[in-house]
Amino acid sequence: MLPTTAKERESLAQARDTLAQLERQFTSESRLEEVTDGRAVVAARGITRTYGRGGAAVHALRDVDIDIAKGRLTAIMGPSGSGKSTLMHILAGLDQPTRGRVSIDGIEITRLKEKRLTQLRRDKIGFIFQSFNLLATLTASENIVLPLSLARRRADEAWRRAVIEAVGLTDRLTHRPAELSGGQQQRVAVARALITRPAVLFADEPTGNLDSRTGSEVLGLLRRSVDEFGQTVIMVTHDAGAASIADRVVFLKDGRVVQDRNRMTRDEIYDTIKNLEAAAVADERSSR
Ligand SMILES: Nc1ncnc2c1ncn2[C@@H]1O[C@H](COP(=O)(O)OP(=O)(O)OP(=O)(O)O)[C@@H](O)[C@H]1O
Ligand SMILES: [Mg+2]
Repeated sequence: MLPTTAKERESLAQARDTLAQLERQFTSESRLEEVTDGRAVVAARGITRTYGRGGAAVHALRDVDIDIAKGRLTAIMGPSGSGKSTLMHILAGLDQPTRGRVSIDGIEITRLKEKRLTQLRRDKIGFIFQSFNLLATLTASENIVLPLSLARRRADEAWRRAVIEAVGLTDRLTHRPAELSGGQQQRVAVARALITRPAVLFADEPTGNLDSRTGSEVLGLLRRSVDEFGQTVIMVTHDAGAASIADRVVFLKDGRVVQDRNRMTRDEIYDTIKNLEAAAVADERSSR
């Protein structure tokens, strides 16, 4: 029988919504299990992030599915405003999606309470920011072991030495950040991120504040951490040269993954990003 009153129509629409929601939940649950069994360290399903409501709503991410394989370096690229930082913050448990699920090392972080989430971030995740974020009053050495000190864990001495040697800071350990160059400060930040042997290392524009030579040094370190230590790295970058060290390049546009490719050359990346940027500008014009 067709619904006749407004109330009947409304309850029918509600029932459809609930059904659709259940269906989505069911399919995303079974898919999530499939991938977390395998080599994916990070698995995200149906990630949607909307800021604001109604006509003013901004759809920063729209139904993004992504798996990050262990021991690989993945670059995330896309025009400004395409959702890169939002995606990284959600994958790292720094922000919650409006809808969707994320798991890290088999633990679904989108269900955790704040206290457990903080603990998980401390144990499983390393961060490198564009602006280094070192503590000014601590020496290089103290900054490097800070995540362990905070977790009341002792450094494995052999690992600590290996990390410090890898980043080439052996003779700068007693210096404070103000006494180090930008490149050296970022190397301290890389060592700090590696010291806990995190399941995933996230880097948001790690070379954004560096000149090209020191930028290359930092990229070389990230690459070595993958090749020599089996580290998993996810890096957001605007720079085609930086992304060319990645095993995989994921391109976002308008909150969606529009290309997902294995190793690309700098020129291929440059062309792809130029095309996406031009398309983004054209979209903006036509929506005015
Ligand atoms: N707190 C917020 N409130 C409202 N809108 C936001 C907020 N944070 C981000 N946005 C919007 O969400 C979209 C995605 O932002 P995001 O910062 O993820 O982009 P991005 O790809 O990192 O860009 P950029 O390359 O400029 O850093 C943008 O349109 C942005 O304006
Ligand atoms: Mg950003």
